[in-house]
Amino acid sequence: MKSKTLNLTLALSALALTAWAVAAPEKTHLARSVSMRKMADSLHAVIAADQRTYVERLAPALAGGTAPGHAELLRKAGQSIQQNGAEFSYALRSLQPINRSNAPQTEAEQAGLAFVASHPGENYYTDEELGGRSYFTAVYAQRADLASCVDCHNANPRSPRRDLKLGDAMGGLVVRVPLEF
Ligand code: HEC
Repeated sequence: MKSKTLNLTLALSALALTAWAVAAPEKTHLARSVSMRKMADSLHAVIAADQRTYVERLAPALAGGTAPGHAELLRKAGQSIQQNGAEFSYALRSLQPINRSNAPQTEAEQAGLAFVASHPGENYYTDEELGGRSYFTAVYAQRADLASCVDCHNANPRSPRRDLKLGDAMGGLVVRVPLEF
């Protein structure tokens, strides 16, 4: 009788252990480093969200010329980050830019802008060597996802494109991270 109780207790404990083992979550993977791609994707996510919010919230002031332009703001922020020693850089580019200094400046930028324009939903990633240093370079499409993007760009006298529609590729954001330190 006593051993029967013991057996039952043992069997129940074994069952409980099995149930616990099944229910216990898998040990989660500890991320100790971030891939270049993930880093560039994250930088892009933050920069693009800020830019979009700025354009969306300040549309009337931007159209009226009383707020600094979104491209100028992005450039200034990028420059100040560089001055503070950041090991990455970013820039707005386009194959048909309003501001000619926003035209592609490297072969990778040129190829990336052409790629994202013809592959909706995809980004472009490559390595490039500039001035003897290797970089990981990512290009993300800039699409006309707000009516104000289309209206303002089409109305700009310096714009080579006057036929932009919602959803069109307007250019790209280039994010560059050095691979050598
Ligand atoms: C109120 C006007 C205005 C609005 C709204 C606007 N832009 Fe621009 N955008 C400009 C001007 C002006 C430039 C060039 C100025 C410069 O480089 O300083 C520019 C530059 C750019 C560039 C770099 C290439 C180029 O044409 O010089 C991209 C890409 C771009 N804009 C995308 C967008 C997107 C996407 C939106 C909407 C989310 C948007 N813009 C909304 C006026 C506007």
